Amino acid sequence: MANPSILILAGDGIGPEVMTEVKKVINWFGAKRDVAFDVSEDLVGGAAYDVHGVPLSDETMAKAQEVDAVLLGAVGGPKYDVLDFSVKPERGLLRLRKEMDLYSNLRPAQCFDALADFSSLKKDVVAGLDIMIVRELTSGIYFGEPRGIIVENNERVGINTQRYTESEIERVARSAFELAKRRGNKVCSMEKANVMESGILWREVVQRVHDEEYPEVELSHMYADAGAMQLCRAPKQFDVIVTDNLFGDLLSDAAAMLTGSLGMLPSASLGAPMANGRPKAMYEPVHGSAPDIAGQGKANPIACILSFSMALRYSFDLGAEADRLEAAVEKVLADGVRTADLLGPEGGVPVSTSEMGDKIIEALDASL
Ligand code: NAI
Ligand code: MG
Repeated sequence: MANPSILILAGDGIGPEVMTEVKKVINWFGAKRDVAFDVSEDLVGGAAYDVHGVPLSDETMAKAQEVDAVLLGAVGGPKYDVLDFSVKPERGLLRLRKEMDLYSNLRPAQCFDALADFSSLKKDVVAGLDIMIVRELTSGIYFGEPRGIIVENNERVGINTQRYTESEIERVARSAFELAKRRGNKVCSMEKANVMESGILWREVVQRVHDEEYPEVELSHMYADAGAMQLCRAPKQFDVIVTDNLFGDLLSDAAAMLTGSLGMLPSASLGAPMANGRPKAMYEPVHGSAPDIAGQGKANPIACILSFSMALRYSFDLGAEADRLEAAVEKVLADGVRTADLLGPEGGVPVSTSEMGDKIIEALDASL
């Protein structure tokens, strides 16, 4: 049988720099754990525009549809700010998400002990935190019709519409329950069923999917505003949180910041299962192309490396290898190895992007 396939789209700015470190990790798993992937690389964002005049070529789009997982670095940069909206680097990313129909966006908020002091919350509130926000990504108020700015009674009116079909709610609910089964077996669904009809339907459908298909998973419901309070007050009460596109946008950003630097945050976007049973999938760090530090070897590669770890777990069913990689990251942080973004006010000597990658490889070696 062919090896599982990965398409690397490193993109712009620090994208290629952090992806170089991910490639070291991928090669390590091939050499030392006999976990081999067929890796191909292509262009996205400004890098693709420079060559093809578009931020994602049709050929690259077709490849992304065929592989088992896409790993994306970051896109964008000041050089491309002058471009027409239709060919901006970000459009490449949006095209991938839309055409692969990646409806389930996974954003973990995980607190590495060595960085617990970094949080804006008290150490004991976040130490050991490991939660996952599942945000519906392809529907809801960012897409609903009618939308626009119209004139009514001599003044302008801005309109957006929150709209969810039952099948859209069902599929993201399933995605959350499946995740919970591999984690803490607990899902909290968040909406505003007290004031929104789409929230009433959301609650009803999530409950039905639970009762019919996942009765063994513990399910609770919370109004999203109360959920935001609970996330700040006692985040460790949660395991998986499932919510709509708008609330998920806010809650996942807030939850992520419970644990520190942008350079640490991975994400996954999953779609429907393919013929081989694996979900359509794209993995990428939450951060952008960081033009302010690009080309200087300062970027923290951990967000991108942890995105690959999510690929091991959610695309390739290699949870034990993902645990190994995450433990290696934890070990390196515990040893005090820090890229510049992870240095506190007391300072210290930062390591470079490639030194951080090498330290993680050393820790992986030590895990054997
Ligand atoms: P950004 O995430 O690129 O940078 C924000 C700040 O965090 C900067 O000071 C940067 O140096 C720092 N930072 C980000 N990642 C880091 C890492 N791995 N290690 C150390 N420090 C890191 O967001 P910004 O500045 O708003 O956007 C820059 C460009 O990236 C823009 O063109 C924007 O459109 C694009 N962008 C792309 C995204 C993507 O590809 N998914 C997401 C967000 C922005
Ligand atoms: Mg956001």
